[in-house]
Amino acid sequence: MNTKLSHITEPLDTELKEFRSFFKRTIASDVPLLDLLTNYLIKQKGKEIRPLLVFLSARLFGPINQRSMVAATMIELLHTATLLHDDVVDNAHARRGMVSIHRIWNNKAAILLGDFLLSKGLLIALENNEHTLLEVQSRAVKKMSEGELRQLKTAGLGNMTEDRYYQIIEEKTASLIATCCECGAVSTTSDEEIHRRMNDVGHAIGMAFQIKDDLLDYSESEIGKPKRNDIKERKITLPFIKAAQNASKSDARIYRRLMKKRKKTSRDIEDIVQFVRNNKGIEDSEKIMHSYASKAQEDIRSLSSSEQRNALIALIDFIVNRTK
Ligand code: IPE
Ligand code: IPE
Ligand code: MG
Ligand code: MG
Repeated sequence: MNTKLSHITEPLDTELKEFRSFFKRTIASDVPLLDLLTNYLIKQKGKEIRPLLVFLSARLFGPINQRSMVAATMIELLHTATLLHDDVVDNAHARRGMVSIHRIWNNKAAILLGDFLLSKGLLIALENNEHTLLEVQSRAVKKMSEGELRQLKTAGLGNMTEDRYYQIIEEKTASLIATCCECGAVSTTSDEEIHRRMNDVGHAIGMAFQIKDDLLDYSESEIGKPKRNDIKERKITLPFIKAAQNASKSDARIYRRLMKKRKKTSRDIEDIVQFVRNNKGIEDSEKIMHSYASKAQEDIRSLSSSEQRNALIALIDFIVNRTK
């Protein structure tokens, strides 16, 4: 299977260039500190999965247009803002293979820059009279904050359940990814039934996306951000939940207690990783991730018979096979 993004992005080269230039123009500012920060931000290159999802969803129903461009840019702005805030919350010192903004400057600068990006995302919707996009995305932003807060409350408590986990990732990640697919469709068709079904497709992609992200924290690959940070930050994610379900009661108790420990040694951390691996935490999570991905792919096949659907289906394969 082709696990590179380039075969998906090449046909969208023109659109992606335009998107990057729109993004850059939108965040330009003559406030000196903002200018300094946004220049650094532009150098931190993300995977651009969300704009790709917007474009590929749009193309299922018609040619990519200015509305698709506004939607993609808005969503990437909101996403980038939440990453800046998330790295402060998670104490994460690296992002996209570079030092995170709050580590180079400070928490205050990172939070204010995040607020600036959020406001810009909302403003470009208004400037382009995109009330539907504004409404759909504002709802996602609200959900994302709720998910991050819910997670903050549960970290370290040891009372995480599988259902609670799904609720958190649905809010903090799947809501925005659902919005990508929905807004893409909104830009090229007025059929509301399609909007709703594309939101469902995006929801399933988003669930698979966050399960993959949580698996990467347990992986051996170089992921461009601090690895094992979930374990350090006492975040219980699906691989650990599954391992604890499969393990003996006494092992599960021991490792839940270890997970709750605040200052873990590197030995503690590797013990947790081994516990998760030895008790099928990785395997079981991968199965669940693949079932979300397959569901999304099947729904896309039933929604559209155009050739264009293949690139979106391939992007989902990339998402579950990526190494960062
Ligand atoms: C990271 O998203 C945040 C999560 C929802 C897990 P991405 O992995 O898409 O981040 P970038 O934009 O490529 O850096
Ligand atoms: C991302 O969750 C949630 C956001 C909405 C930003 P994570 O905390 O797992 O994301 P990474 O691993 O820092 O990218
Ligand atoms: Mg984080
Ligand atoms: Mg993560």
